[in-house]
Amino acid sequence: MRFPTTGPRRLRSSEAMRRLVRQTRLTVDNLVYPLFTCPGENVKEPITSMAGCFHFSPDRIAEEAAETASLGIGAVLLFGLPVSKDASGSDAYREDSTVCQAIRKIKEAVPDLLVITDVCLCAYTDHGHCGLIKEGKIDNDPTLDLLAKMALVHTQAGADMVAPSDMMDGRVGRIRSVLDDVGYTDTAIMSYAAKYASAYYGPFREAAHSAPQGGDRKSYQMDPGNSDEAMTEMRLDLEEGADILMVKPALAYLDIIQRARQAFDVPIAAYNVSGEYMMIQAAAKQGLVDLEAIMMETLLSIKRAGADILITYFAKEAAKVLAR
Ligand code: PBG
Ligand code: ZN
Repeated sequence: MRFPTTGPRRLRSSEAMRRLVRQTRLTVDNLVYPLFTCPGENVKEPITSMAGCFHFSPDRIAEEAAETASLGIGAVLLFGLPVSKDASGSDAYREDSTVCQAIRKIKEAVPDLLVITDVCLCAYTDHGHCGLIKEGKIDNDPTLDLLAKMALVHTQAGADMVAPSDMMDGRVGRIRSVLDDVGYTDTAIMSYAAKYASAYYGPFREAAHSAPQGGDRKSYQMDPGNSDEAMTEMRLDLEEGADILMVKPALAYLDIIQRARQAFDVPIAAYNVSGEYMMIQAAAKQGLVDLEAIMMETLLSIKRAGADILITYFAKEAAKVLAR
């Protein structure tokens, strides 16, 4: 008798065998590519803190959206920069905001590409916080109307889905009811439901010029030590009408993704954020890791943890690998 009788290595003996038994596979269908739009004309400006990413003016963003779609990617997540900032972030909810212009351009050029928009005030407020500030504190409830207005103008411009990232209490419900009142019952909501107060957002805040001018986001974004609270946040957002629940960041929070997958029966999205992206880029640039291999392994790990939707700056590169 040979010892041992069972041998897991048998099913790893060839690529054909490994393919046969592989449980998790990435597909291009899972990918969402974030895009940044800025005021101006004929702008395509590299974002210094985020390798391979650009700021596009609305007149140039359709070409990037078309390239994204040509790689088989089905959705983009749109972020905007304001023309000017003020205390209430009023540039965020103008009908002709930069984001609204960009949505129209993308929808004109590539109508089938899903346009998801980030809904939050931090890039638009002069204090850099995601909500209104009153006497040095976040003013939750009056912020909800502004977020709902922002979601509405994006929807009117043609967005298919809105993604509130502000972490105010009650925003999903307010956005849902405002959209429904105006007849936009088909606009989906992907809520940044379990969004942590994370140091991994650093490169993005440089890109979006959205770093808080004073203090931090710990009174609204979640404490990294908490896991049960993420379940509460997600349950509340579901009850308020969220269609998709997001966990953010992804890699340091794979346990949260796994719990979300087990606890809820709606699609789970994970945001592989700017700091996670740039750590890999930086390590690859130093020759420490193989960029392509580590990119695919990382994205696979997020999917294996339970995410259905992967929001990643690697989307275009990953789509190229998957097409081979
Ligand atoms: C704005 C927002 C942030 C990100 C997405 N939307 C930054 C923040 O909350 O400070 C982070 C994205 C990334 O790091 O890639 N609320
Ligand atoms: Zn914000």
